[in-house]
Amino acid sequence: MARNSTTWLLVLLTSGSASFISCTGSKKSDPAKKAEAAQTPASQSASWNEKMQALSRSLSSLLPMVTSKSKFNDPKNQAQIEKDVRNLRSLAHSLKGDAGPMADPAVPAMTGLFEEDLERALEALRSGNREFARQSLRDTTSYCIQCHTQTGTGPNFPQLNLNIDTNSLTSLEQAEFFAATRQFDRALMAYERALSDEALARSNPFEWEQAARTALAITVQVKNSHADAQKLLAQIQTNAALPSSTQQALRAWKKSVRDWAKEKPARDLSPAKKLEFAQSLIRQAKNRQEFPMDHSQDILYFRASGLLHQLLGSGELKGEPLAETLYWAGVASEASRDMNFWTLHETYYEQCIRTMPSSAVAKKCFERLSESVTLGYSGSAGVNIPPEVIQRLERFKNMAEPKTSAD
Ligand code: HEC
Repeated sequence: MARNSTTWLLVLLTSGSASFISCTGSKKSDPAKKAEAAQTPASQSASWNEKMQALSRSLSSLLPMVTSKSKFNDPKNQAQIEKDVRNLRSLAHSLKGDAGPMADPAVPAMTGLFEEDLERALEALRSGNREFARQSLRDTTSYCIQCHTQTGTGPNFPQLNLNIDTNSLTSLEQAEFFAATRQFDRALMAYERALSDEALARSNPFEWEQAARTALAITVQVKNSHADAQKLLAQIQTNAALPSSTQQALRAWKKSVRDWAKEKPARDLSPAKKLEFAQSLIRQAKNRQEFPMDHSQDILYFRASGLLHQLLGSGELKGEPLAETLYWAGVASEASRDMNFWTLHETYYEQCIRTMPSSAVAKKCFERLSESVTLGYSGSAGVNIPPEVIQRLERFKNMAEPKTSAD
């Protein structure tokens, strides 16, 4: 089964461009992984990485057309656009049956949602709803970035030789493209350029702040570097048109980074100690937040997420410690729910309940799940939860509740 899908995939990949991008440099630092890959040449993680490289190629071809309305609507580009989107969709689909190199239980849920969104874009394209298709395809990079920053680990390419003319993209679009394709150093440089753009901060403070937080998440979760975070914050501060909400958060961010730099680096923590440390970061963040979507404590939440995803990705946890880690990963990710397209925190709560049904942890997870769903369906006209969502909640409620002796 795995072999079949790999062969099929290689056919798919080679039909585009035949050369894979060499990425041996980034893998040198990981001899264990290399040895493992050598033992099982058709291993899932090898094909996962090839699919990711193919995603990068389709994205390179598509992005310049998606960011320009006129190129997107130019009849001579139609066939290529549809081919690229179809390609992305097939790749997203092929990821679904593949757990990838990570044991993080949110990854399969994310691949499913990624495919669904590409499917919607493809349908919109076919039915002539081009502007909707273009807008949703523009978001593709955000999916890649979110997945990569959640799971944290993975290669960091100094530079990939992808066939894309980044000059046709704005600094922000370049930053997102580089982050999506895991060229994180180039991404941070482009983010710094975009974030020093006064016109952008003035005309679109919301977009500007989202970009600032994404760049911060990269320095904290992917690079795990207080020096990089500090450098980024210094750069952000030079923008004369800093949105007022960011000015307040910035002071707190700088304090978090200063405190982080003073900490003794904690190496080789046991899983239990890592979980404990992540919990303490989240508790500190909660105590300091002044209102629920107060972003001033982002750095603490990003650090906690990074630790929790390391734990989940290691595949070492089982039973109650796993459920507890899923609970806290949910809490940490919920703190940036306004930044994400995906309600990933809900995936974590659901997974927590499945891991330890009928337990105190499961009950805790159900409470958060139920609150989050209710919040998600609240509007000016009150709470309006669709019946199928209520049914789903009901199932998780039953799963979480203690079994009565009558069963
Ligand atoms: C479902 C989550 C998810 C999505 C969505 C996703 N990725 Fe990835 N990506 C990963 C994981 C996990 C890895 C591997 C990390 C590791 O090797 O440990 C990875 C690795 C990569 C790599 C490195 C591959 C190598 O050769 O090692 C590239 C390049 C990449 N992704 C590009 C993309 C692009 C471009 C997109 C969007 C079009 C994307 N990814 C979407 C999860 C995702």
